[in-house]
Amino acid sequence: MAGRIVFIAGPVVRAEGMAGSRMYDVVQVGAEGLIGEIIGLDRDVATVQVYEDTSGIGPGDAVVTTGEQLSVELGPGLIGTIYDGIQRPLSDIRERTGDFIERGVSVSPIGRERRWHFSPAVSQGDAVSGHSILGTVRETPVVEHRIMVPPGIEGRVERIAPEGEYTVDDAIATVGGRDVRMAHKWPVRRERPYLRKLDPSVPLITGQRVFDTFFPIAKGGTAAIPGGFGTGKTVSQHQLAKWSDAEIIVYVGCGERGNEMTEVLDEFPKLDDPRTGEKLMARTILIANTSNMPVAAREASIYTGITLAEYYRDMGYNVALMADSTSRWAEALREISGRLEEMPGEEGYPAYLASRLAEFYERAGQVEVVEGRRGSISIIGAVSPPGGDFSEPVTQNTLRIAKVFWALDADLADRRHFPAINWLRSYSLYLNKVRGWWGDNVDPSWYALREKAMQLLQKEAELKDIIQLVGPDALPPTDQVVLEAARIVREDFLRQHAYDAVDTYCAERKQFDMLRIMLRFHDLAVEALGRGVDVATIKGARSRELLARMGRVPQDRVAEEFARTERELEREFSAMEVAG
Ligand SMILES: Nc1ncnc2c1ncn2[C@@H]1O[C@H](COP(=O)(O)OP(=O)(O)O)[C@@H](O)[C@H]1O
Ligand SMILES: [Mg+2]
Repeated sequence: MAGRIVFIAGPVVRAEGMAGSRMYDVVQVGAEGLIGEIIGLDRDVATVQVYEDTSGIGPGDAVVTTGEQLSVELGPGLIGTIYDGIQRPLSDIRERTGDFIERGVSVSPIGRERRWHFSPAVSQGDAVSGHSILGTVRETPVVEHRIMVPPGIEGRVERIAPEGEYTVDDAIATVGGRDVRMAHKWPVRRERPYLRKLDPSVPLITGQRVFDTFFPIAKGGTAAIPGGFGTGKTVSQHQLAKWSDAEIIVYVGCGERGNEMTEVLDEFPKLDDPRTGEKLMARTILIANTSNMPVAAREASIYTGITLAEYYRDMGYNVALMADSTSRWAEALREISGRLEEMPGEEGYPAYLASRLAEFYERAGQVEVVEGRRGSISIIGAVSPPGGDFSEPVTQNTLRIAKVFWALDADLADRRHFPAINWLRSYSLYLNKVRGWWGDNVDPSWYALREKAMQLLQKEAELKDIIQLVGPDALPPTDQVVLEAARIVREDFLRQHAYDAVDTYCAERKQFDMLRIMLRFHDLAVEALGRGVDVATIKGARSRELLARMGRVPQDRVAEEFARTERELEREFSAMEVAG
C-alpha cells in the first residue's frame, strides 16, 4: 500500500497513509522510485529525507516503504571501490548515466557476477556464532577477506562449501538451519556488535612527524583537525589516508568541492604503499559525497563509512576512517532540521548535534570482537569552522569528544609552515598511553626527548614575548641558543613537505633520530657557551644546513647520512674557538 505526499521542502517530504511503516525504513518516492528514509513518524504520517534530487516531485505522488532499513551490503568487492553516500558505486553509476547520477538508479554495491576463490576454515558440525570466520577470500593482494557468520546467526555448521569459486550470492554454508552467503546487509545507523572495548595503547603511525612524535593518535583513537579555509585539512587527511599504518582505510569526502575529490580519485590509484609495495587502493574504500550531490546522502555518508569500517574491524583489522569535513555533514543535518521546522539550537544547528557527533565518534575504538580477535577503528574528522573561529558549535562539540586536537593555524599556513599544526594549542590524550610502545619499539628515551623538544618550543614562546619588549640581543646567550634550537625543531622537524617524494612519509625510527640529532645541537651549543664560545659563532654553525636536509634523506641512506651529520655536528662544535 502506498502513501501520498502531502508536503515537500527540498530533500524532505511528508506522506500520509504510511501506516505499517517503521522509523528508518527505506522508502521509494514518486514514479522514479527515489530512495528516501523515514526520519519521523506520527501515526500514519511519515517524514522522509530523500537521498536524491526531489525536483519535479509533488503532492499526491506515491511513497512506498520497502520495509528495510538504510543498509550497506558487506562482502568481498568493497575494497578499491568509490561509493556515493548511500553505497552506490560511482563508476557503475557513471557508466550507466554519465557523469551525474540519474535519479532512481539502483545499482548493486558489490559485483554480483564476480567469482571469488573461497577457502573454508570450519568443518561440518563445528559450533559457530556471529563473527565466527567460516572461510577466507583474497580480496586484494594485501587484504584477506574473512567471511564471517552474520551477527544473530548461530548453531552447528550443517554444510560448508568446499574450496572453490563462488559469487557473493552463493550460499557457502548452512548454519543453524540458515543459509549464509558471502555477502550480508547491515543497517548503517546501528553499531555492529563486539565483545568489549579495550584501552588503546598502540600508536597509529602516520608518517607525519608533528602527529606521531608530538601529538600521537592511538589505533582505535579519535582525532579532530579543525582549521579555516586553506589551512591544510584536506592535505592532512590525504596524507593520513596514504601513509597511516592501518590495514584498511575508509575515506569519506563529505560535502567538499568536487575537484578535491577528483584529486583523490585521480591520485590515489597511482600511489604505492611504502609498507607492502602494493597499490594503496588495494586497502582503501572511498566515499564521495561532494557539495553538488544531494544533502541527505551527505548526512548518511558518514554512517555508510563507519559501518564499512566496522565490518573490517570485525575481521580483526586496524581500520582508519577520515571524514572531510564533518562540518559539511553538520550543515546537512542543519539543513534537514530546518526543513523539518525543528526548534533551532546554537547557530541554527539542531539541539541533537552534540549527541549525533558523539554517537559517530563512539563507533571508534579498539575492541575485542570475539574471544581472541581484536580490531580497531581510528576516526580522524576534519572540521571547517567558518572564518577559522574555533568557538563555533561544531568545533566546540567535537573537541569535547575527540581525544586528539590537531589545531590548524592560519598564520602558520600564511607563512608556508606546513603542516600548519599549532604546536602550542594542539594536544593528545594518548601521549601517556602510547609512550610505552615507543619506548619498547623505537627507543627508551623517546618520551624524554619529546618532552625536551616541547619544552624548547614553550620556552621559545615565552622568550618571544620578552623580545617584543627588549629586542633579541638583550637576551642572555643561553636563551639565544634556546631560540636557535627551537627554530631547528620548528623548521626542520615540525615542517614536513607533503609534496616531496621522500619527506612526505617519515618512518618512526627516522623521526626519532632526526629529533635526537637536532637536540644534540642544543646540548653542544650549551656546552660550547660554557667553554666561552661566542653565541654568534654558534649561530653561524654550518652543520645547521645538514640538519635542515635530514627530512629529505631517503630511507635507505638514513643510517649512513645521519651518522655523518652527527659526526660533522660534533666535529664543528669541538673545533669552535673560544672568543678572545
Ligand atoms: N603538509 C603540507 N605540505 C605542503 N603544502 C601543504 C600542506 N598542507 C597544506 N598545504 C598547502 O595548503 C593548500 C591548502 O590546503 P588544503 O588542505 O586544501 O586546505 P583546506 O582543506 O583546509 O581548505 C594546499 O593546496 C597546499 O598548497
Ligand atoms: Mg579542504
